Amino acid sequence: MQTVKLAIAGFGTVGTGLARILEENEDVILARCGKKFEITSVLVRDVNKKRDFLPGPEVKFTADPDEFTSSPDVDIVVELMGGTTVAKEIVIKALKAGKHVVTANKHLLAEHGIELFDIAAQNKVGLYYESSVAGGIPIIQSIKESLAGNRIKSIVGILNGTANYILSEMSTNGLEFDTALAQAKELGYAEADPTFDIEGIDAAHKVCVLTRIAYGKDYPLSELPIEGITRVEGQDIRFAREFGYRVKLIGAVQDVGGKLEAGVFPALVKYTLLLARVGGNYNAVRVEGNAVGPAFFHGQGAGSLPTGSAVLADIMALAKTDTPDNTGFCNAPIEKANILPPELA
Ligand code: NDP
Ligand code: HSE
Repeated sequence: MQTVKLAIAGFGTVGTGLARILEENEDVILARCGKKFEITSVLVRDVNKKRDFLPGPEVKFTADPDEFTSSPDVDIVVELMGGTTVAKEIVIKALKAGKHVVTANKHLLAEHGIELFDIAAQNKVGLYYESSVAGGIPIIQSIKESLAGNRIKSIVGILNGTANYILSEMSTNGLEFDTALAQAKELGYAEADPTFDIEGIDAAHKVCVLTRIAYGKDYPLSELPIEGITRVEGQDIRFAREFGYRVKLIGAVQDVGGKLEAGVFPALVKYTLLLARVGGNYNAVRVEGNAVGPAFFHGQGAGSLPTGSAVLADIMALAKTDTPDNTGFCNAPIEKANILPPELA
């Protein structure tokens, strides 16, 4: 029986979720994958921090990125630390050393993804990222593979669990913004810097990733219109409800006659629409293709186990193949998008 060795950079919400599932679902994983998985090393900031869950005593915890990356005895490096500095260095080192990489880091992919996929392809290793958009929902594979034969007309979604949790709690339980945000942090939904969630930046990273997959185009983040939920007040939400609407943070991209229109913005969504019913940390993505028509995906977009589930799917996919997918965002060089200026939209 072959054992696949994992090195995990980051053992917070998602890293812990992954380790828990590896332990709890060991039999299912073995049956479906034919391989055993072993965590050999873990990179954290503070090795002495008290943790709710620990993998076996044989797992080496280190706070030294060089020590972490120097271990030759690793098959897959799993980047679950976030950020674009140390995380980027670790991913590049791993790819250049011929290791597959799995990451949940949409910020890294939005800013440096094109470069990272080039390095992965040059080194004939996989760089998989299902968990980077919409947490546990298999949206990357769905757009990239299952809907591959479609021209994508539009993608409209609730792409940030923290913002959706805040808006839902303000709407249904009358919570104050700050109280709901504090709860979202406590529940492990928020980014290390939660301004990314509430200012719409995290959703923008996800729109950027989805746009590259669906259209093969780069919509530069600096040009993407982004508005978060910090200006949404309790009374906006109450008035919206009175008129039969819910306030939702939407991330969207659509093809308008060959030009892309995209953005992140709070929107009034009629309560009869499925998107209006998406509560808590849930995300939803409506993808419209010219052949399939509309397809709707719904599930937990943030949190330890849902995100760990998507990370594990990538790990298992890599463990099962001798020919890792090297198509990156899509099977073509990413071109700069022809953008429909927001004022014309
Ligand atoms: P956490 O903040 O919970 O965990 C981050 C982990 O990385 C911690 O273990 C931390 O160490 C470690 N770490 C951070 N910076 C460094 C560093 N410079 N050197 C060494 N270790 C470091 O983050 P999450 O688990 O929530 O998120 C991880 C990634 O997953 C991010 O890219 C995030 O965007 C993405 N993601 C998160 C989701 C979620 O629901 N939380 C969902 C989908 C994606 P220590 O424990 O010592 O502090
Ligand atoms: N902070 C992110 C969110 C995590 O709340 O959606 C999932 O990407």
